[in-house]
Amino acid sequence: MSSRTVIRGGLVITAAEEMYADVLIEDGRIAALAASHTPAAEAFTAERTVDATGKYVIPGGVDGHTHMEMPFGGTYASDTFTTGTRAAAWGGTTTIVDFAIQSVGRSLREGLDAWHAKAEGNCAIDYAFHMIVSDVNDETLKEMDLLVEEGVTSFKQFMAYPGVFYSDDGQLLRAMQRAADNGGLIMMHAENGIAIDVLVEQALARGETDPRYHGEVRKALLEAEATHRAIRLAQVAGAPLYIVHVSAREAVAELTRARDEGVNVFGETCPQYLFLSTDNLAEPDFEGAKYVCSTPLRPRDHQEALWRGLRSDDLQVVSTDHCPFCFTGQKELGRGDFSKIPNGMPGVENRMDLLHQAVVDGHLSRRRWIEIACAAPARMFGLYPKKGTIAPGADADVVIYDPHAEQVMSAATHHMNVDYSAYEGRRVTGRVETVLSRGEFVITEREYTGRAGHGVYTPRSTCQYLS
Ligand code: URP
Ligand code: ZN
Ligand code: ZN
Ligand code: ZN
Repeated sequence: MSSRTVIRGGLVITAAEEMYADVLIEDGRIAALAASHTPAAEAFTAERTVDATGKYVIPGGVDGHTHMEMPFGGTYASDTFTTGTRAAAWGGTTTIVDFAIQSVGRSLREGLDAWHAKAEGNCAIDYAFHMIVSDVNDETLKEMDLLVEEGVTSFKQFMAYPGVFYSDDGQLLRAMQRAADNGGLIMMHAENGIAIDVLVEQALARGETDPRYHGEVRKALLEAEATHRAIRLAQVAGAPLYIVHVSAREAVAELTRARDEGVNVFGETCPQYLFLSTDNLAEPDFEGAKYVCSTPLRPRDHQEALWRGLRSDDLQVVSTDHCPFCFTGQKELGRGDFSKIPNGMPGVENRMDLLHQAVVDGHLSRRRWIEIACAAPARMFGLYPKKGTIAPGADADVVIYDPHAEQVMSAATHHMNVDYSAYEGRRVTGRVETVLSRGEFVITEREYTGRAGHGVYTPRSTCQYLS
């Protein structure tokens, strides 16, 4: 049975171009585009017509870094796949790539199966998985090949969190060598966790227990050092590398230097590093705990290097690292000891809007907004052009975006399952109005019309920046 929708009169924006066009959707895919008010466009017929005059028509956002229901610090990230993907849709994101976790002593397969079980039948939008590798051994390395073949084509390793997810340099190198062979992409949490743990102990011994010390011990230089080491190890292995959640200007400099040398290294940053700072970590009455994540927020003067990196393409992607913990009962676990505050911040619903605000503020062009939020993550993680663009044959994951609407971000109105907003009271210009996922209306003029279970698992090809 055929079902058709036409979206008329909006400004269609992709990473490549902008055009006033009508978009014809048929059976969940983009069927055709034609300049509005031309005979070709007027010939589009459909059961459902949406007037997008005065609005942007953009690809659904691709958030390449989320942690729904992640076990961490003795608790679980507070968004389930059900609540987190619904919130993502409200914010104009139609695909997430979440991190399945290998526990130490267990196989990759067990971890992946567990994440499939959490997600299946519960998602409002499409989803895929990266695999966190916390135990590099002969079996794990073999399993990496199998995962690449079945569409889990990227592997996160940690130079931080000794005793939890940490890999030493030898383990990093072995996984990188395997990725060089099987086409996988290594994603690196680049912080020198061994040195940081020493500084944590010393700070606590001095009685420095407040959230702001989280930012002080996780030093920018230790992010830069790990970034440098990861890049050089990947070079030795002949593997491409993607550095997640870059926050320090010194780390951006390492990326810039390596990319200028022609190294296949890519970088991601997150809205919290672009819009928040150590000023937030220093908020009194333990409020700073709301902003504890790793890598940590940096002093405000690091932000310009991140914006510059996004403009110069030394940073390619903005993901959220959405990993929410409620202030009450979860962040509070670290009262009196900042090292016990669960690491992570909410944001899956806010990313598209905050980056649109960056367009309004002159940091980014409109097309660069779509590139870093939709097209580049889709290419990086092997989902393009099914996801990340509006073009014939692509999935009809489409957002109708009102660039003039004003909104105030707040926990009182957001849809994430977390009791605070990291952006409480922030005014932004621009708002999602309608969201389609494979042609189905998930948000219809600011009303939720989706359903858990509409979203499907989406296997991925290998990184498309290399092929
Ligand atoms: O603080 C963070 N980023 N929590 C999520 C886990 C990670 O390291 O990405
Ligand atoms: Zn017309
Ligand atoms: Zn990380
Ligand atoms: Zn993360």
